[in-house]
Amino acid sequence: MTELVVLNNVTQMRAWRRSGRRAVVMTMGALHPGHAALMDEARRVVGSEGQVVATVFVNPTQFSPGEDFESYPRTMEEDLEVCSGHGVDAVFSPDAVEVYGEEPSDLSVDPGELGSVLEGSIRPGHFRGVLTVVLKLLNLTQPDVAVFGEKDYQQLILVRRMVDAFNLPVEVVSVPTVRDPDGLAMSSRNVYLDSTQRAAAAAIPAALFVGRESAEAGSSGVDVVRAAEQVLNAQDGVEPDYVVLTGPHLEPAEDSGRARLLVAARVGETRLIDSTELVLAGAS
Ligand code: PAJ
Repeated sequence: MTELVVLNNVTQMRAWRRSGRRAVVMTMGALHPGHAALMDEARRVVGSEGQVVATVFVNPTQFSPGEDFESYPRTMEEDLEVCSGHGVDAVFSPDAVEVYGEEPSDLSVDPGELGSVLEGSIRPGHFRGVLTVVLKLLNLTQPDVAVFGEKDYQQLILVRRMVDAFNLPVEVVSVPTVRDPDGLAMSSRNVYLDSTQRAAAAAIPAALFVGRESAEAGSSGVDVVRAAEQVLNAQDGVEPDYVVLTGPHLEPAEDSGRARLLVAARVGETRLIDSTELVLAGAS
């Protein structure tokens, strides 16, 4: 267990003394083992002499009207336990006025074309909100390293693109998706699922698994997507939004080589996303 510092405002955050390399793990709280894996990786990257700061901020600007901003789980006490159990030195947990000011600016980060496909097509404005808050939190926490999960794959790619596009002095490190024993990707939103929905949601990782197996057996990209779709369509209570195969950086997929299979589906009112890497053998 580390001695945890809780910083609630920008002045405190800025005054936090630097020692060694600093890593940030940005979260919206309701922490679970997926977040904890990012914290462990952050500690591994900066070493025992370095600093790990976790941010806990439910960012209003990345939620669309009608989404779950108000009801998003807020579990600060438990979150602090997770942080102190996973080598975090400081938690930065500001309120919205602290981050955006009394009169929020009308400037924001344009996520480019990649911001309006996949999740962006279903959640307009989402990635503008995400990249803007990520940029602000990078500027506030001043890390050498920022750790993100592959769970939110489009977010990870967009953050990398922003860092490249604006020459931000930070290294982005990614961590593979942490899953429940039946394969479901851990998510703060899984608490919304009742037991029937929770069982049905396992079709999402199952679809990715079948897609990957199909690729390993030599199927084309089209057939990989079809195989994954079949698994989702066979599951009552799961409504797919998309099943898409792309290149590893979300560019159009090639016929062979590394690719990413991405799924978004609604289970009741809850939207879940997941993805996996796979390799297409291509025409022989
Ligand atoms: P949140 O959903 O809390 O996720 C915070 C970080 O944890 C993200 O990098 C996400 O990819 C990672 N993560 C979540 N579930 C994971 C899992 N099962 N395995 C591995 N990593 C996982 O993503 C956000 O918050 C926000 O958009 C944020 C970046 C904090 C900006 O507001």
